Amino acid sequence: MNKPVLGVLCSGRGTNLQSIIAAAESGQIPAAIGLVITDKPEAKALERAAQAGIPHICVDRKRCASRQEFEEKLAASLKEHGVTLVILAGFMRILSPYFVREFSGRIMNIHPSLLPSFGGAHAHRDVLAYGVKVSGCTIHFVDEGMDSGPIILQAAVPVADDDTEDTLAARVLEQEHVLYPKAIELYLKGRLVTEGRHVRIKS
Ligand code: GRF
Repeated sequence: MNKPVLGVLCSGRGTNLQSIIAAAESGQIPAAIGLVITDKPEAKALERAAQAGIPHICVDRKRCASRQEFEEKLAASLKEHGVTLVILAGFMRILSPYFVREFSGRIMNIHPSLLPSFGGAHAHRDVLAYGVKVSGCTIHFVDEGMDSGPIILQAAVPVADDDTEDTLAARVLEQEHVLYPKAIELYLKGRLVTEGRHVRIKS
């Protein structure tokens, strides 16, 4: 039987992509990565995909006249490659309701804080400014809001008094690299059951 196909969307360095590639290669994730798409030509994620022999393209947002055109290109490429689960891994764009409906219930995102606290683009900065003692990361399904979809998994890390954005980000990233493959594995093994806001994990 053919393996399910993942499409991974990235904007930058792609360390989460790398952890997902490793999990697919080791067999932890029973899927093939069918396509990596970036919205920026300089994204290092493209090199990582190339090195792993994974099809990769850039859909340059700057060369698209509108968000609709950009997202139609994303959706068309993902469908052409037979993608059934869309993984946002450091993809720094908000997707419109059009795209979310095209892959309804089949888009996951990772966010570097314990949602619903500290959503948005500057999670670590906001965590440090607020003075919380615990942060972490969240894997969630994507709905039509920002960082608001049903939560699949979370991992917590301590925040140290002398943390900088970089030291905190590094501590959280270590957890991200474990958590994202785990969430994808659970999804592909049919162990995630979504009921409204709640994602239950079947044993
Ligand atoms: C990660 O911290 C992720 O949580 C956030 O953006 C960062 C992407 O890192 N959404 P990388 O590109 O996977 O290395």
